[in-house]
Amino acid sequence: MSRRRQIYEGKAKILYEGPEPGTLIQYFKDDATANNAEKRGTINGKGVINNRISEHVFTRLSHIGIPTHFIRRLNMREQLVRQVEIIPLEVVLRNVAAGSLSKRLGIEEGEPLPHTLIEYYYKDDALGDPMVAEEHIACFNWASHEEMHDISSMAIRINDFLVGMFAGINIRLVDFKLEFGRLYDGDYSRVILADEISPDGCRLWDMATGEKLDKDRFRRDMGGEEEAYREVARRLGLLQGEDNQPGEVLDLSSHRSRLRGTPPKK
Ligand code: TMP
Repeated sequence: MSRRRQIYEGKAKILYEGPEPGTLIQYFKDDATANNAEKRGTINGKGVINNRISEHVFTRLSHIGIPTHFIRRLNMREQLVRQVEIIPLEVVLRNVAAGSLSKRLGIEEGEPLPHTLIEYYYKDDALGDPMVAEEHIACFNWASHEEMHDISSMAIRINDFLVGMFAGINIRLVDFKLEFGRLYDGDYSRVILADEISPDGCRLWDMATGEKLDKDRFRRDMGGEEEAYREVARRLGLLQGEDNQPGEVLDLSSHRSRLRGTPPKK
């Protein structure tokens, strides 16, 4: 039996050579990091849940015409994807003030923004992924003007779609991160959505209670991250036997108690 070739190992995923040229296998780990890998840990079962959630989100996005790297899920922790050249930018969309925006500008977390903000961060761990302007992106040739036009228009469409999708399951999409890559066809390339969309790279708040259902539980040592990730998957109808109707109003009291680590009230 031959061992498959590892192409890249990141903080939460490993990429292996795929079965055909131009494909890769994306493996989802349980490892979690925060604050540019200053905090490290694992979230039990996270890889399995994120694989399912990302499959679901990328499939839904492809149905509205967003080109993505996703081909198909292979098993619990792996999916087959198209090989792309990753554009070295983290594209962050914000609907509500939170996280680094609140810290940097002194805006209270939870304040709805008058319109969606799009921000760019240069992907460089050694520099701590600094925020950059489109001027820097053009100046250092990280992406062309045309590519940035495609990225920003896709990002806004993705945000509009996902805000509605999550609202349908009583979740507020506060902010999230996207990555894009170049898919080559001979001398030409086009930009497609890559990486993953999961509670690792989104802020997801329960609409009724404000409960955090994302990686902030890990970043802020709140506990209950496994349950929070499972709750998102369950509401999306991705956990067998535990799915609910989209839009159904849920009684979260027992979940809230579990998320806080206290037994549910009888
Ligand atoms: P921030 O408030 O820390 O800048 O993060 C904004 C959103 O983008 C949040 O949902 C987390 C996500 N994000 C990542 O997943 N990875 C990153 O490297 C950055 C900068 C943000």
